[in-house]
Amino acid sequence: MAKQLSGAGLRGQVAGKTALSTVGKSGSGLTYRGYDVKDLAQNCQFEEVAYLILKGKLPNQSELDAYKTKLRGMRGLPTALKEVLERIPKDAHPMDVLRTGCSMLGNLEMETSFDQQQDVTDRMLACFPSIICYWYRFSHDGVRVDVETDDDSIGGHFLHMLHGEKPRELHEQVMHVSLILYAEHEFNASTFTARVCASTLSDMHSCVTGAIGSLRGPLHGGANEAAMEMIEGFTSADDAEEKMMGMLERKEKIMGFGHAIYSESDPRNEIIKQWSEKLAADVGDEVLYPVSVRCEEVMWREKKLFCNADFFHASAYNFMGIPTPLFTPIFVMSRLTGWAAHVMEQRADNRIIRPSAEYTGEELRPVPAISERA
Ligand code: COA
Repeated sequence: MAKQLSGAGLRGQVAGKTALSTVGKSGSGLTYRGYDVKDLAQNCQFEEVAYLILKGKLPNQSELDAYKTKLRGMRGLPTALKEVLERIPKDAHPMDVLRTGCSMLGNLEMETSFDQQQDVTDRMLACFPSIICYWYRFSHDGVRVDVETDDDSIGGHFLHMLHGEKPRELHEQVMHVSLILYAEHEFNASTFTARVCASTLSDMHSCVTGAIGSLRGPLHGGANEAAMEMIEGFTSADDAEEKMMGMLERKEKIMGFGHAIYSESDPRNEIIKQWSEKLAADVGDEVLYPVSVRCEEVMWREKKLFCNADFFHASAYNFMGIPTPLFTPIFVMSRLTGWAAHVMEQRADNRIIRPSAEYTGEELRPVPAISERA
Protein backbone atom coordinates (compact mmCIF):
# COMPACT_ATOMS: atom_id res chain seq x y z
CA MET A 1 0.00 0.00 0.00
CA ALA A 2 1.24 3.54 -0.78
CA LYS A 3 2.51 5.64 2.13
CA GLN A 4 0.04 8.29 3.38
CA LEU A 5 0.97 11.94 2.89
CA SER A 6 2.35 13.65 5.99
CA GLY A 7 1.54 17.13 4.68
CA ALA A 8 0.18 18.99 1.68
CA GLY A 9 2.46 20.27 -1.06
CA LEU A 10 4.90 17.35 -0.68
CA ARG A 11 6.58 19.44 2.03
CA GLY A 12 9.54 17.73 3.64
CA GLN A 13 9.50 14.74 1.29
CA VAL A 14 12.65 13.72 -0.52
CA ALA A 15 11.54 13.34 -4.14
CA GLY A 16 14.86 12.50 -5.80
CA LYS A 17 18.61 13.05 -5.74
CA THR A 18 20.65 16.00 -6.95
CA ALA A 19 24.31 17.03 -6.95
CA LEU A 20 23.48 20.56 -8.08
CA SER A 21 22.56 22.55 -4.99
CA THR A 22 21.67 22.50 -1.31
CA VAL A 23 19.00 24.69 0.26
CA GLY A 24 19.03 25.42 4.00
CA LYS A 25 21.78 22.90 4.68
CA SER A 26 25.24 24.48 4.61
CA GLY A 27 27.17 27.71 4.20
CA SER A 28 25.00 30.80 4.10
CA GLY A 29 22.06 28.51 3.26
CA LEU A 30 22.40 28.02 -0.50
CA THR A 31 25.20 26.25 -2.34
CA TYR A 32 25.71 25.45 -6.03
CA ARG A 33 27.86 22.35 -6.58
CA GLY A 34 29.48 22.92 -3.19
CA TYR A 35 30.14 26.66 -3.54
CA ASP A 36 28.33 29.14 -1.32
CA VAL A 37 26.07 31.45 -3.33
CA LYS A 38 27.42 34.39 -1.30
CA ASP A 39 30.94 33.56 -2.43
CA LEU A 40 29.83 33.11 -6.03
CA ALA A 41 27.87 36.40 -6.06
CA GLN A 42 30.91 38.24 -4.72
CA ASN A 43 33.51 36.75 -7.01
CA CYS A 44 31.93 35.54 -10.22
CA GLN A 45 30.10 36.66 -13.31
CA PHE A 46 26.84 34.93 -14.17
CA GLU A 47 28.39 33.10 -17.14
CA GLU A 48 30.91 31.45 -14.79
CA VAL A 49 28.09 30.23 -12.56
CA ALA A 50 26.02 29.04 -15.53
CA TYR A 51 29.07 27.08 -16.69
CA LEU A 52 29.51 25.64 -13.19
CA ILE A 53 25.90 24.53 -12.94
CA LEU A 54 25.67 23.16 -16.47
CA LYS A 55 29.11 21.64 -16.91
CA GLY A 56 30.10 20.77 -13.34
CA LYS A 57 33.17 22.98 -12.77
CA LEU A 58 34.09 26.63 -12.58
CA PRO A 59 35.68 27.62 -15.89
CA ASN A 60 39.27 28.81 -16.07
CA GLN A 61 39.89 32.08 -17.95
CA SER A 62 40.20 30.54 -21.41
CA GLU A 63 37.14 28.32 -20.88
CA LEU A 64 35.15 31.36 -19.73
CA ASP A 65 36.28 33.43 -22.71
CA ALA A 66 35.34 30.64 -25.09
CA TYR A 67 31.97 30.13 -23.40
CA LYS A 68 31.11 33.83 -23.60
CA THR A 69 32.14 33.95 -27.25
CA LYS A 70 29.94 30.95 -27.96
CA LEU A 71 26.96 32.53 -26.19
CA ARG A 72 27.50 35.88 -27.96
CA GLY A 73 27.32 34.07 -31.27
CA MET A 74 23.94 32.52 -30.44
CA ARG A 75 21.90 35.66 -29.73
CA GLY A 76 20.16 35.94 -33.09
CA LEU A 77 16.52 34.96 -33.62
CA PRO A 78 15.18 33.02 -36.63
CA THR A 79 12.83 35.07 -38.84
CA ALA A 80 9.90 32.73 -38.15
CA LEU A 81 10.31 33.32 -34.42
CA LYS A 82 10.47 37.09 -34.90
CA GLU A 83 7.25 36.89 -36.94
CA VAL A 84 5.49 35.03 -34.13
CA LEU A 85 6.73 37.56 -31.56
CA GLU A 86 5.47 40.43 -33.70
CA ARG A 87 1.97 38.95 -33.62
CA ILE A 88 1.74 38.79 -29.82
CA PRO A 89 -0.22 41.79 -28.46
CA LYS A 90 1.31 44.51 -26.34
CA ASP A 91 -0.85 43.65 -23.34
CA ALA A 92 0.27 40.01 -23.26
CA HIS A 93 2.22 38.98 -20.19
CA PRO A 94 5.96 38.72 -20.98
CA MET A 95 6.07 35.32 -19.26
CA ASP A 96 3.50 34.08 -21.76
CA VAL A 97 5.59 35.60 -24.54
CA LEU A 98 8.66 33.75 -23.29
CA ARG A 99 6.71 30.50 -22.94
CA THR A 100 5.55 30.85 -26.54
CA GLY A 101 9.01 31.92 -27.70
CA CYS A 102 10.64 28.89 -26.08
CA SER A 103 8.03 26.57 -27.52
CA MET A 104 8.40 28.09 -31.01
CA LEU A 105 12.18 27.76 -30.80
CA GLY A 106 11.62 24.06 -30.08
CA ASN A 107 9.74 23.78 -33.37
CA LEU A 108 12.45 25.53 -35.33
CA GLU A 109 15.52 24.07 -33.64
CA MET A 110 14.29 20.74 -32.33
CA GLU A 111 16.43 18.73 -29.91
CA THR A 112 16.57 15.47 -31.83
CA SER A 113 19.09 13.72 -29.58
CA PHE A 114 20.10 14.10 -25.95
CA ASP A 115 23.68 14.56 -27.23
CA GLN A 116 22.57 18.08 -28.16
CA GLN A 117 21.41 19.02 -24.67
CA GLN A 118 24.34 21.32 -23.79
CA ASP A 119 24.16 23.20 -27.09
CA VAL A 120 20.37 23.48 -26.96
CA THR A 121 20.65 24.92 -23.44
CA ASP A 122 23.39 27.39 -24.39
CA ARG A 123 21.25 28.53 -27.31
CA MET A 124 18.33 29.23 -24.97
CA LEU A 125 20.60 31.03 -22.48
CA ALA A 126 21.90 33.23 -25.28
CA CYS A 127 18.60 34.01 -26.98
CA PHE A 128 15.98 34.26 -24.21
CA PRO A 129 16.94 37.92 -23.54
CA SER A 130 16.58 38.51 -27.29
CA ILE A 131 13.09 36.97 -27.30
CA ILE A 132 11.89 39.11 -24.38
CA CYS A 133 13.35 42.38 -25.66
CA TYR A 134 12.49 41.85 -29.32
CA TRP A 135 8.81 41.41 -28.41
CA TYR A 136 8.83 44.15 -25.78
CA ARG A 137 10.45 46.81 -27.94
CA PHE A 138 8.39 45.89 -31.02
CA SER A 139 5.05 45.84 -29.21
CA HIS A 140 5.72 48.91 -27.04
CA ASP A 141 7.95 51.14 -29.18
CA GLY A 142 7.39 49.80 -32.70
CA VAL A 143 11.15 49.11 -32.94
CA ARG A 144 12.71 45.97 -34.43
CA VAL A 145 15.62 45.91 -32.03
CA ASP A 146 19.00 44.51 -33.08
CA VAL A 147 19.33 41.37 -30.95
CA GLU A 148 22.90 40.62 -31.96
CA THR A 149 24.71 43.06 -29.70
CA ASP A 150 28.38 42.63 -28.84
CA ASP A 151 27.81 43.09 -25.09
CA ASP A 152 30.08 41.02 -22.91
CA SER A 153 27.39 39.50 -20.69
CA ILE A 154 23.86 38.12 -20.82
CA GLY A 155 22.66 40.78 -18.37
CA GLY A 156 24.37 43.53 -20.37
CA HIS A 157 22.82 42.23 -23.60
CA PHE A 158 19.38 42.35 -21.99
CA LEU A 159 19.76 45.91 -20.66
CA HIS A 160 21.25 47.15 -23.92
CA MET A 161 18.31 45.88 -26.00
CA LEU A 162 15.77 47.10 -23.46
CA HIS A 163 17.10 50.64 -23.12
CA GLY A 164 18.67 51.06 -26.55
CA GLU A 165 22.08 51.94 -25.15
CA LYS A 166 25.07 50.19 -23.58
CA PRO A 167 24.41 49.60 -19.87
CA ARG A 168 26.37 51.28 -17.13
CA GLU A 169 28.95 49.15 -15.34
CA LEU A 170 27.01 49.28 -12.06
CA HIS A 171 23.88 47.94 -13.75
CA GLU A 172 25.74 45.18 -15.55
CA GLN A 173 27.30 44.19 -12.23
CA VAL A 174 23.90 44.06 -10.50
CA MET A 175 22.59 41.87 -13.33
CA HIS A 176 25.46 39.43 -12.75
CA VAL A 177 24.59 39.24 -9.04
CA SER A 178 20.86 38.94 -9.66
CA LEU A 179 21.23 36.19 -12.26
CA ILE A 180 23.63 34.30 -9.98
CA LEU A 181 21.18 34.47 -7.07
CA TYR A 182 18.29 33.16 -9.17
CA ALA A 183 20.22 30.44 -11.04
CA GLU A 184 19.40 27.30 -9.08
CA HIS A 185 17.32 26.24 -6.08
CA GLU A 186 16.95 22.46 -5.77
CA PHE A 187 13.45 20.96 -6.13
CA ASN A 188 11.37 24.14 -6.30
CA ALA A 189 8.06 24.04 -8.20
CA SER A 190 9.36 25.01 -11.65
CA THR A 191 12.43 22.77 -11.45
CA PHE A 192 10.30 19.86 -10.33
CA THR A 193 8.01 20.55 -13.30
CA ALA A 194 11.05 20.36 -15.60
CA ARG A 195 12.20 17.11 -14.00
CA VAL A 196 8.77 15.48 -14.25
CA CYS A 197 8.68 16.39 -17.94
CA ALA A 198 12.26 15.15 -18.45
CA SER A 199 11.39 11.85 -16.76
CA THR A 200 9.09 11.01 -19.68
CA LEU A 201 12.18 11.41 -21.93
CA SER A 202 10.71 14.54 -23.50
CA ASP A 203 12.81 17.20 -25.20
CA MET A 204 14.56 20.15 -23.51
CA HIS A 205 12.25 22.81 -24.96
CA SER A 206 9.18 21.03 -23.57
CA CYS A 207 10.79 20.76 -20.14
CA VAL A 208 11.69 24.46 -20.11
CA THR A 209 8.32 25.57 -21.53
CA GLY A 210 6.54 23.73 -18.70
CA ALA A 211 8.92 25.20 -16.13
CA ILE A 212 8.23 28.74 -17.39
CA GLY A 213 4.52 28.10 -16.81
CA SER A 214 5.20 27.04 -13.22
CA LEU A 215 7.49 29.95 -12.50
CA ARG A 216 4.87 32.44 -13.68
CA GLY A 217 2.62 32.12 -10.61
CA PRO A 218 2.80 34.72 -7.81
CA LEU A 219 3.60 32.06 -5.20
CA HIS A 220 6.81 31.32 -7.12
CA GLY A 221 8.72 33.60 -9.52
CA GLY A 222 5.84 35.99 -10.03
CA ALA A 223 6.39 37.23 -6.47
CA ASN A 224 8.96 39.87 -7.53
CA GLU A 225 6.37 41.58 -9.73
CA ALA A 226 3.66 41.28 -7.09
CA ALA A 227 6.04 42.78 -4.50
CA MET A 228 6.74 45.72 -6.82
CA GLU A 229 3.04 46.36 -7.36
CA MET A 230 2.59 46.46 -3.60
CA ILE A 231 5.51 48.72 -2.67
CA GLU A 232 4.83 51.26 -5.39
CA GLY A 233 1.42 51.78 -3.79
CA PHE A 234 3.07 53.03 -0.58
CA THR A 235 3.95 56.73 -0.40
CA SER A 236 6.28 56.58 2.61
CA ALA A 237 7.63 54.16 5.22
CA ASP A 238 4.84 55.14 7.65
CA ASP A 239 2.22 54.67 4.95
CA ALA A 240 3.72 51.23 4.20
CA GLU A 241 3.51 50.25 7.87
CA GLU A 242 -0.11 51.34 8.19
CA LYS A 243 -1.23 49.58 5.02
CA MET A 244 0.70 46.41 5.78
CA MET A 245 -0.86 46.18 9.23
CA GLY A 246 -4.23 46.32 7.49
CA MET A 247 -3.21 43.60 5.05
CA LEU A 248 -2.03 41.38 7.88
CA GLU A 249 -5.26 41.95 9.79
CA ARG A 250 -7.19 40.87 6.70
CA LYS A 251 -4.86 37.83 6.54
CA GLU A 252 -3.65 38.73 3.06
CA LYS A 253 -0.49 37.11 1.75
CA ILE A 254 2.36 39.57 1.36
CA MET A 255 4.38 38.69 -1.73
CA GLY A 256 8.14 38.49 -1.39
CA PHE A 257 7.99 37.12 2.17
CA GLY A 258 8.26 33.62 3.58
CA HIS A 259 9.71 30.49 2.13
CA ALA A 260 8.84 26.81 1.89
CA ILE A 261 12.32 25.64 3.00
CA TYR A 262 14.16 28.50 4.76
CA SER A 263 12.79 29.16 8.23
CA GLU A 264 14.63 32.27 9.45
CA SER A 265 16.12 34.02 6.46
CA ASP A 266 16.77 33.66 2.76
CA PRO A 267 20.53 34.02 2.12
CA ARG A 268 19.83 35.69 -1.22
CA ASN A 269 17.99 38.55 0.44
CA GLU A 270 20.98 39.98 2.30
CA ILE A 271 22.92 40.15 -0.97
CA ILE A 272 20.31 41.72 -3.23
CA LYS A 273 19.26 44.10 -0.43
CA GLN A 274 22.79 45.55 -0.35
CA TRP A 275 22.68 46.12 -4.08
CA SER A 276 19.21 47.67 -3.87
CA GLU A 277 20.57 50.09 -1.27
CA LYS A 278 23.48 51.03 -3.57
CA LEU A 279 21.12 51.55 -6.49
CA ALA A 280 18.80 53.65 -4.32
CA ALA A 281 21.73 55.94 -3.46
CA ASP A 282 22.71 56.02 -7.14
CA VAL A 283 19.28 57.25 -8.27
CA GLY A 284 18.70 59.42 -5.18
CA ASP A 285 15.67 57.40 -4.09
CA GLU A 286 14.04 58.47 -0.82
CA VAL A 287 10.85 56.43 -0.98
CA LEU A 288 11.06 52.94 -2.43
CA TYR A 289 14.08 51.70 -0.47
CA PRO A 290 12.92 53.07 2.92
CA VAL A 291 9.45 51.65 2.18
CA SER A 292 10.98 48.24 1.46
CA VAL A 293 13.06 48.30 4.65
CA ARG A 294 9.99 49.18 6.70
CA CYS A 295 8.01 46.32 5.12
CA GLU A 296 10.82 43.98 6.15
CA GLU A 297 10.75 45.30 9.74
CA VAL A 298 6.97 45.06 10.04
CA MET A 299 6.80 41.50 8.70
CA TRP A 300 9.51 40.30 11.05
CA ARG A 301 8.04 42.11 14.06
CA GLU A 302 4.46 40.99 13.44
CA LYS A 303 4.79 37.54 11.86
CA LYS A 304 8.47 36.49 12.11
CA LEU A 305 8.37 36.35 8.31
CA PHE A 306 11.50 37.37 6.38
CA CYS A 307 12.12 38.68 2.88
CA ASN A 308 12.82 36.02 0.29
CA ALA A 309 14.98 36.59 -2.81
CA ASP A 310 12.16 38.36 -4.60
CA PHE A 311 11.43 41.27 -2.28
CA PHE A 312 14.49 43.51 -2.72
CA HIS A 313 14.82 42.40 -6.32
CA ALA A 314 11.69 44.46 -6.96
CA SER A 315 13.24 47.79 -5.93
CA ALA A 316 16.64 46.90 -7.42
CA TYR A 317 15.14 46.21 -10.87
CA ASN A 318 12.97 49.32 -10.60
CA PHE A 319 16.03 51.49 -9.88
CA MET A 320 17.60 50.15 -13.09
CA GLY A 321 14.58 51.28 -15.10
CA ILE A 322 13.30 47.77 -15.81
CA PRO A 323 9.52 47.64 -16.37
CA THR A 324 7.76 45.52 -13.72
CA PRO A 325 6.27 42.91 -16.12
CA LEU A 326 9.84 41.99 -17.17
CA PHE A 327 10.93 41.05 -13.64
CA THR A 328 9.91 37.39 -13.79
CA PRO A 329 11.30 36.86 -17.32
CA ILE A 330 14.72 37.90 -15.94
CA PHE A 331 14.31 35.14 -13.37
CA VAL A 332 13.78 32.75 -16.33
CA MET A 333 16.94 33.98 -18.10
CA SER A 334 18.83 32.79 -15.03
CA ARG A 335 16.89 29.78 -13.68
CA LEU A 336 17.08 28.21 -17.11
CA THR A 337 20.55 27.03 -16.06
CA GLY A 338 19.18 25.19 -13.05
CA TRP A 339 16.25 23.73 -14.98
CA ALA A 340 18.45 22.44 -17.78
CA ALA A 341 21.04 20.98 -15.39
CA HIS A 342 18.24 19.17 -13.55
CA VAL A 343 16.90 17.83 -16.84
CA MET A 344 20.38 16.52 -17.68
CA GLU A 345 20.69 14.99 -14.21
CA GLN A 346 17.27 13.34 -14.52
CA ARG A 347 18.15 11.96 -17.95
CA ALA A 348 21.41 10.52 -16.67
CA ASP A 349 19.63 8.37 -14.08
CA ASN A 350 16.02 8.27 -15.13
CA ARG A 351 12.89 6.61 -13.92
CA ILE A 352 9.55 8.12 -14.85
CA ILE A 353 8.23 10.26 -11.97
CA ARG A 354 4.83 8.90 -11.14
CA PRO A 355 3.72 9.27 -7.50
CA SER A 356 0.46 7.96 -6.09
CA ALA A 357 -2.55 9.88 -4.78
CA GLU A 358 -4.57 9.46 -1.62
CA TYR A 359 -8.10 8.84 -2.92
CA THR A 360 -10.83 10.94 -1.29
CA GLY A 361 -13.72 10.29 -3.74
CA GLU A 362 -16.82 8.10 -3.86
CA GLU A 363 -16.87 4.41 -2.97
CA LEU A 364 -17.22 1.98 -5.88
CA ARG A 365 -20.76 2.24 -7.33
CA PRO A 366 -22.70 1.03 -10.37
CA VAL A 367 -23.48 3.32 -13.33
CA PRO A 368 -27.24 4.11 -13.17
CA ALA A 369 -29.40 4.09 -16.32
CA ILE A 370 -29.68 7.59 -17.83
CA SER A 371 -33.42 7.73 -16.96
CA GLU A 372 -32.59 7.24 -13.27
CA ARG A 373 -30.05 10.07 -12.99
CA ALA A 374 -30.83 13.34 -11.19
N1 COA B 1 2.39 36.73 3.93
C1 COA B 1 1.55 36.49 4.95
N2 COA B 1 1.50 35.31 5.60
C2 COA B 1 2.35 34.36 5.18
C3 COA B 1 3.25 34.55 4.13
C4 COA B 1 3.24 35.79 3.49
N3 COA B 1 4.07 36.04 2.48
N4 COA B 1 3.97 33.44 3.93
C5 COA B 1 3.54 32.55 4.84
N5 COA B 1 2.56 33.11 5.60
C6 COA B 1 1.85 32.47 6.66
C7 COA B 1 0.83 31.50 6.09
O1 COA B 1 -0.40 32.11 5.85
C8 COA B 1 0.77 30.46 7.17
O2 COA B 1 -0.05 30.93 8.19
P1 COA B 1 -1.15 29.96 8.88
O3 COA B 1 -0.34 28.84 9.47
O4 COA B 1 -1.81 30.86 9.85
O5 COA B 1 -2.01 29.51 7.76
C9 COA B 1 2.18 30.39 7.71
O6 COA B 1 2.75 31.66 7.41
C10 COA B 1 3.01 29.28 7.11
O7 COA B 1 3.23 29.52 5.74
P2 COA B 1 2.88 28.51 4.58
O8 COA B 1 1.97 29.18 3.61
O9 COA B 1 2.48 27.19 5.17
O10 COA B 1 4.24 28.31 3.87
P3 COA B 1 4.40 27.46 2.56
O11 COA B 1 5.63 26.70 2.73
O12 COA B 1 3.18 26.71 2.22
O13 COA B 1 4.53 28.58 1.43
C11 COA B 1 5.40 30.39 0.28
C12 COA B 1 5.72 29.20 1.14
C13 COA B 1 6.72 30.97 -0.23
C14 COA B 1 4.57 29.94 -0.94
C15 COA B 1 4.62 31.41 1.10
O14 COA B 1 5.45 31.91 2.14
C16 COA B 1 4.11 32.55 0.25
O15 COA B 1 3.02 32.43 -0.31
N6 COA B 1 4.87 33.67 0.16
C17 COA B 1 4.48 34.77 -0.69
C18 COA B 1 4.85 34.46 -2.16
C19 COA B 1 6.32 34.53 -2.42
O16 COA B 1 6.98 35.47 -2.02
N7 COA B 1 6.81 33.54 -3.15
C20 COA B 1 8.20 33.48 -3.55
C21 COA B 1 8.91 32.39 -2.84
S1 COA B 1 10.65 32.44 -3.14
